[in-house]
Amino acid sequence: MQLDVKPMNTLDLVTHGPVIPVIVLQRVADAVPLARALVAGGVKVLEVTLRTAVALDCMRAIAQQVPEALVGAGTIRSVDDAKAALDAGCRFGVSPGYTRDIGLACQRIGLPLLPGVASASEVMAANADGYSFLKFFPATAAGGIPMLKALAGPFTDVVFCPTGGITPETAPQFLALPNVKVCGGSWLTPQDAVEAQDWERITRLARAASALRGVA
Ligand code: 3PG
Repeated sequence: MQLDVKPMNTLDLVTHGPVIPVIVLQRVADAVPLARALVAGGVKVLEVTLRTAVALDCMRAIAQQVPEALVGAGTIRSVDDAKAALDAGCRFGVSPGYTRDIGLACQRIGLPLLPGVASASEVMAANADGYSFLKFFPATAAGGIPMLKALAGPFTDVVFCPTGGITPETAPQFLALPNVKVCGGSWLTPQDAVEAQDWERITRLARAASALRGVA
């Protein structure tokens, strides 16, 4: 299914709030209530990872039943993943790393991509193919704030969404960096809360995440 909507610029994603939740779903039945719980807490950009057998069905359900959410596919590792995500109604894709194959295919099929990078060489490869808004992954393990400050030197026109190891406590420091527009993290959707279908807890976590601001 492809929704009848114009492809977005991935930078539009940052206009909806400071945190993009990285979501792992094990049951299709959880997808819509989880998405609604996040939207109720002010979080509408949702990255559902392609890490479970039900992921595509979850994306499809959210795209069809929660129109106020902007659902995207995380963990895009192949061109087929990108095509499947678009077909499931995803508005954007996120990849943990960058390959030219995926980068060019996403442009061809019209899936806005937030590609992952962890080094200067990877920034150069993605940037050469037209990507200047990049996921910095795995953010904490790959050098965290000092690495982002270092990348700001040569890459004055590149902005990042650090993801991986970020917490509600550290997110404000990341968000304070001029080259960070938004952070990604799984803390908004803890597995035990999803398993227990504790949607109120998820709304509370989303509300707190929505209120985060950069603090140096
Ligand atoms: C992931 O790979 O699951 C994301 O980068 C989220 O990482 P986190 O669980 O450390 O937030």
